[in-house]
Amino acid sequence: MSDLGPAAQPPALRFPNGFLWGSATAAHQVEGNNCNNDWWAAERAGQLPYASGLACDHYRRYAADLALFADLGHNAHRFSLEWSRIEPRPGEFDAAAIAHYRHVIETTRANGLEPLVTLHHFTNPRWLSEAGGWTRPEVVPAFERFARRAAREYRDLVRYWITVNEPGVYATQAWALGIWPPRQRSITLALRVLRYMALAHGRAYHAIHEEQPDARVGVAHHWRIFDPANPARRGDRLVAGVRSHLVNQAFPIAIRRGRLLPPIGNGRTIGWLVGTEDWVGLNYYTRERDRFDSRLPHLLFARETFAKVERNQLKWEIYPDGLFRALLAVARPGSGVEVIVTENGIPEPDNQDNLRPAFLVQHLAACHRAIVAGVPLRGYLYWSSLDNFEWADGFEPRFGLVHVDYAIQARTPKPSAYLYRDIIRRNGLSAEELERYPTANC
Ligand code: FCB
Repeated sequence: MSDLGPAAQPPALRFPNGFLWGSATAAHQVEGNNCNNDWWAAERAGQLPYASGLACDHYRRYAADLALFADLGHNAHRFSLEWSRIEPRPGEFDAAAIAHYRHVIETTRANGLEPLVTLHHFTNPRWLSEAGGWTRPEVVPAFERFARRAAREYRDLVRYWITVNEPGVYATQAWALGIWPPRQRSITLALRVLRYMALAHGRAYHAIHEEQPDARVGVAHHWRIFDPANPARRGDRLVAGVRSHLVNQAFPIAIRRGRLLPPIGNGRTIGWLVGTEDWVGLNYYTRERDRFDSRLPHLLFARETFAKVERNQLKWEIYPDGLFRALLAVARPGSGVEVIVTENGIPEPDNQDNLRPAFLVQHLAACHRAIVAGVPLRGYLYWSSLDNFEWADGFEPRFGLVHVDYAIQARTPKPSAYLYRDIIRRNGLSAEELERYPTANC
């Protein structure tokens, strides 16, 4: 090790110049007191196991937080605008909230961080959810109006926009499995939600471009690897394939080809929806291995098998090679599709940072392999900047690079935050890191 510390070691795996390095958050998970949205309402009504409360108090502490991320070497930051703050009543925009986010974005830039701004990250204004939310066609023009307003307000500061975060996850958790508000259990409704999310995304894409022709508009897609529990069994292969199609591929196909295939549409091409994606955001966490089980129609006949593999606190398999596979799937080499990893991370219990260093190095090594294979990968955003409110799992799973002591709102970077800083400073992984955290060969 040289006198200047690990950051001064030459990179064994170097990333492209101008690579975006950073981390990500979402409004409801960090801001606190988001009392105008459907999550807050459901928390208050006792319909959810945990309440977000003050969360990380990031709504007030954003300036110090952003300065900390910059100190930790980041040059990019992803976060979301809380629609329910900006438009608390339909068509009525809140000047103070608009000014607030302007400060947030200005501060992001002032700290040398490229902002990547999400417009919809799971939460909805109460007025929208009370009127049927994403199951009603009216949501399409409503979301378009919000996106247009955001672009008009911030077009001088924001280049990368994300219309919707993980539409498939939102539709499944909230409308099919009934875990998130509005706690519906209907595959029909979930499919309708996906349909309107695709259309709303398309309208928002054009609205943003009308306000800001050089904007880069994309979607943060959740991509999970689905493998058959036993590759020799036809049933296992079939259910893994069907799940992969619905969870991973249906939405990207819809907006790339402008075709809402059955069961979310009639398969006809919608001209204005074709190609409404300037770049691809990829959220990758894990792999699922599926076994055919005829007793589980509501899960599309798939039962997840828990083979003896390393898992995180939420029991998700840790599978770095899956990130390589996902990158190749969303941006085939030679396709010219620009991609950014918009989320990738691991939870650990309080005061632990045991698995995260290896997770980080191994997943970044997978990113590098994808770049070598020809994927135009432009950036990597770790989930999450801070420990935060992990939806229906509450505050216990801690994904942050920075630890939060919620009682006093103190921030303490974890060892992996400094490891990440070294990697960012040298724009690559060192031989020592690769040796210490080798990627398993399987
Ligand atoms: C993703 C969400 C994000 C966070 C991580 C762990 O599905 O987009 O808000 O909860 O999972």
